[in-house]
Amino acid sequence: MTSQTTLLVTGGAGFIGGNFVLQQLAANPALRIINLDKLTYAGNLQTLASLRDNPRHVFVQGDICDRELVQKLMREHRPNAVVHFAAESHVDRSIHGPGEFIRTNIDGTFSLLESARAYFAELDESARAAFRFLHVSTDEVYGSLGADDAPFTETTPYAPNSPYSASKAASDHLVRAYHHTYGLPTLTTNCSNNYGPYQFPEKLIPLMIHNALAGKPLPIYGDGMNVRDWLYVEDHCTAIATVLAQGTLGEVYNIGGWNEKPNLEIVRTLCSLLDELAPASQSFANQITYVKDRPGHDRRYAIDARKIERELGWRPKETFETGIRKTVQWYLANREWTNNVVSGEYRQWVALNYR
Ligand code: NAD
Ligand code: DAU
Repeated sequence: MTSQTTLLVTGGAGFIGGNFVLQQLAANPALRIINLDKLTYAGNLQTLASLRDNPRHVFVQGDICDRELVQKLMREHRPNAVVHFAAESHVDRSIHGPGEFIRTNIDGTFSLLESARAYFAELDESARAAFRFLHVSTDEVYGSLGADDAPFTETTPYAPNSPYSASKAASDHLVRAYHHTYGLPTLTTNCSNNYGPYQFPEKLIPLMIHNALAGKPLPIYGDGMNVRDWLYVEDHCTAIATVLAQGTLGEVYNIGGWNEKPNLEIVRTLCSLLDELAPASQSFANQITYVKDRPGHDRRYAIDARKIERELGWRPKETFETGIRKTVQWYLANREWTNNVVSGEYRQWVALNYR
């Protein structure tokens, strides 16, 4: 990033976007971020509380589908890049109600691309050369792996299985087309499962920590042997910053930390960390409960991260062991953050999904 960079970040009040905004503003003293977020149930201004008086952070509550607003923000703030996190991101919610996923993930990305295309066309030559549109996507677009299959590479054919992953796949294709057809300087990243501070407690790791401490069941879908590939969120954020600074235009970069684990192992690890750091009268593992499987549940994801390692020199800092310990410590030290998001809407979601 150069000294005078302005980024338009979408979804920067969510889990990964929030971590990215906090990390990048701390790391780059001359960086400004215009943070556009609709503040859905998943957006949380508390995550950004430390930036309240920071003039380099401008928060705007709004929808990426609102083209007039996005174009106004672009004209006013002249961003050097768009970093697009905003999405509906929870697979289970996409199964119960896919409509919002189609609207935000597909229509929203289309709308943002159109705004970026119009803005890009008006830039002078040197600003055009510097401009980037970075689209944050997921490994789920590649579908599900068998136990012995090689991890996903950037050329693995798309085979999305949930409404969520199908909507992300569609958005990836739009980004690709805008580069190919209009020459928009795009970059796409496809990352594996993230974990760390500020994650909404509907996702596996924060949900299990929250339920364990609340004395509630720890609901394992199916046999608990579905495999995910885990990456500490700050490592994902440094990977995005690396791709933004050095990535080749039009290219896709897979991001992952080579940390495949079955869900049951994750939950047992969380229980033993909680037994150590917040002991109760009996082990938290006694709260593990098997529940009905997720419909169409992908069996295994795994990312081959060799391209970003080889071409851009990125490597994760955290191992799974260091990252998961930090994460449990963070949730223990910030119980108020979780308690504040576990609102009426959250309770309705739990009743619907785990009935
Ligand atoms: P999140 O659900 O925690 O946050 C999404 C944010 O987007 C929220 O702040 C929400 O308010 C905002 N938003 C939703 N709809 C919007 C709209 N129409 N306009 C403006 N803002 C809107 O999601 P996350 O886990 O932080 O994921 C961020 C991105 O990273 C997503 O694109 C997701 O697909 C991708 N991703 C997530 C993971 C993961 O493990 N969480 C892994 C790989 C990729
Ligand atoms: O792979 C990247 C994706 O990871 C991102 O694109 C998504 O935005 C993100 O939500 C995540 O999707 P998953 O479906 O893998 O994450 P989730 O935390 O919902 O579930 C992880 C695994 O744990 C999955 O196999 C389902 C299982 N699970 C989840 C919940 C919420 C349970 O067994 N019980 C639960 O209660």
